[in-house]
Amino acid sequence: MVSGPECSKARLTKCDGRFAYSHSKTYNNNQKTKYTNRILDNKSVFNISIWKVGGVAQLVRAHGSYPCCRGFKSPPRYHFSSSKFMTHLSKQEIVKLLTSKDNDTLYKRAYEIKKQNVGTKVYFRGLIEFSNICSKNCFYCGLRRDNKKLNRYEISDEEVLGAAKLAWESKYGSIVLQSGEICRPKFSSRIMELLKKIKSATNNELGITLSCGEQSEETYRQWFAAGAHRYLLRIETSNKELYYKIHPKDKEHSFESRIDALKSLKKLGFQVGSGIMVGLPFQTIENIADDLVFLRDIDCDMVGLGPYVEHSNTPLYKERANLMPKQERFDLALKCIAILRIMMKDINIAAATALQAIDEEGREKALLAGANIIMPNLTPTKYRSDYLLYEDKPCINEGALQCKGCLENRVKKYGETIGYGEWGDSKHFLKRK
Ligand code: 5AD
Ligand code: SF4
Ligand code: FES
Repeated sequence: MVSGPECSKARLTKCDGRFAYSHSKTYNNNQKTKYTNRILDNKSVFNISIWKVGGVAQLVRAHGSYPCCRGFKSPPRYHFSSSKFMTHLSKQEIVKLLTSKDNDTLYKRAYEIKKQNVGTKVYFRGLIEFSNICSKNCFYCGLRRDNKKLNRYEISDEEVLGAAKLAWESKYGSIVLQSGEICRPKFSSRIMELLKKIKSATNNELGITLSCGEQSEETYRQWFAAGAHRYLLRIETSNKELYYKIHPKDKEHSFESRIDALKSLKKLGFQVGSGIMVGLPFQTIENIADDLVFLRDIDCDMVGLGPYVEHSNTPLYKERANLMPKQERFDLALKCIAILRIMMKDINIAAATALQAIDEEGREKALLAGANIIMPNLTPTKYRSDYLLYEDKPCINEGALQCKGCLENRVKKYGETIGYGEWGDSKHFLKRK
């Protein structure tokens, strides 16, 4: 039921067939036309804005409350970047998919959507775990500050540059520089200099993603200016209560600060990646459904999510008897990938390494469930066994070239190709710009 030609032109009906649309306001803004519509069904009231450039719907935003039919009291919940590239799923629908036994149908649907929207090219991001020093104490992670059994390391600039050059020569489009979280000026200026060195040593051709935790907005700004253009910061869980069950409740581990960090990154122009762990102690299916809604609501460009895998030198290890079996955690993580692919058709989704800690073909299976990014490990082999976030981490004894060959074969075996020499940026991000 569409009232007003603008609505049908904007193809909002394809966004969610259950809604009725009532057009309320139209106005022009030079080349852009903004249509504001009220969408009504029996449960909700949304304000929808469709920006059109040259007659084509570019951007759709929905602000409203749910479930509610009396006004706009609660904060905006739904943000659709574009009706064509989003499928609206309610939390209830997500729960249903997460609990359904028919995994294959879900994966097939997600794979079709992946093929149509981002294709079947897999992009490699060479992962350089350049330091395992961390000032945080997350209850689940082997790198936590209080794990004294770990040999702490920091890779020299020369070694990082060597790994970056290897990525460039191997035609990996990008690298990911990952470390524990250190918030010191010396650390942030080191990264800034390193970024510049990598850029110049690789003819400005290598894309650089950072994954160095929560930092000040100023630090993020400097890193962006020095050449990093993507940032990964998992929310881990979007449920505040659960967040404080898996992190100490102190200034260093603030849920609000993590959200603020994600906002800063977005504001500064980074392609922002976030994600969660699936199968955490105390985590419910409803929590996970909320997480997926959260990732949609923050309109992230990239997602990295994987199963929680216990580590014996962490406080959460004592909860291991209460965890769901590893295989279930694995299946649930794949389902999350598939659901996200359905909800956000044009984002980049990583086939997380943790999947391979449970299933030997975990990363390839993720490709068939909708993922399109793989992070081959480029960390010099002698450091790898000290970057144990969780147990059974794969590729601990292999070298960079072994991982490259191994992953190439794995990708090919599953009928996909590798986007060598391409950045493979998030299409979602490029359209949002
Ligand atoms: N199991 C799975 N993933 C983990 N991470 C940290 N510890 C674990 C674990 N035990 C993930 C977190 C973090 C990323 C770098 O590694 O999600 O954001
Ligand atoms: Fe440090 Fe990140 Fe591990 Fe937390 S998850 S302890 S911040 S490396
Ligand atoms: Fe590293 Fe297979 S991916 S050895």
